[in-house]
Amino acid sequence: MRLVFARLLKPFRWRSPRATARMLMAFARAERSSFFDMMEAANTTSDLSRRAKYLSHAVDENRHAQMFSLRAVELDPTLAFDDSVARADFEHLFTRLGETRFLAFVHLGEKRARAQMVMFRDELAAFEGTARADTKTKALLDAVMVDEAVHESYTREFLSALAPEASELRSARFWELRRGWLRWGAASSGVLFTLTMWTLYVLMAPLALMERMRPQLPSGWRDSR
Ligand SMILES: [Fe+2]
Ligand SMILES: [Fe+2]
Repeated sequence: MRLVFARLLKPFRWRSPRATARMLMAFARAERSSFFDMMEAANTTSDLSRRAKYLSHAVDENRHAQMFSLRAVELDPTLAFDDSVARADFEHLFTRLGETRFLAFVHLGEKRARAQMVMFRDELAAFEGTARADTKTKALLDAVMVDEAVHESYTREFLSALAPEASELRSARFWELRRGWLRWGAASSGVLFTLTMWTLYVLMAPLALMERMRPQLPSGWRDSR
């Protein structure tokens, strides 16, 4: 679904270095969030071989976050002074989901991220030789994709060793959908409230007008209606 959405937004991508920088900063934020989740996984798992992999995964995600941030600031130096772009979401996913569902969730995320990067890299490849060519960002995506493929593959291996893969993937997909819905609800509730109130005000405007136009009774008379 996200890939379809990303494909639809193609005409708005790469329109300026500033827009590219904003997008790369969003990638950096996602990578940073992933770093925190992998660190929690490394600290919490009881298995030493999985701990080693989670730790190496965390190191990769931290490096990706730095690579995306540096390229973003190179494209738009004003981002270096914007504190809001350094945010990360740390949702304690390992603790909340448990190890098998966490692995399924990470596997799905890595698969999607790699597919998205392939798409973006191909879009940039099509610009080569034109004024919109961006070889540095394309090389960056190429480098990150190699690590994402490793993450995608080892999480699948661990997952199939720990649990029936299909049911965990299904459960992780469902959890992700539910989280997306709740996040959307939280983000849109303010806008929905404003729209509802405006609609109410507009619908009630004729009533207020009718009230003003109502003939006034002489003083001392009571309205028995
Ligand atoms: Fe990454
Ligand atoms: Fe990754």
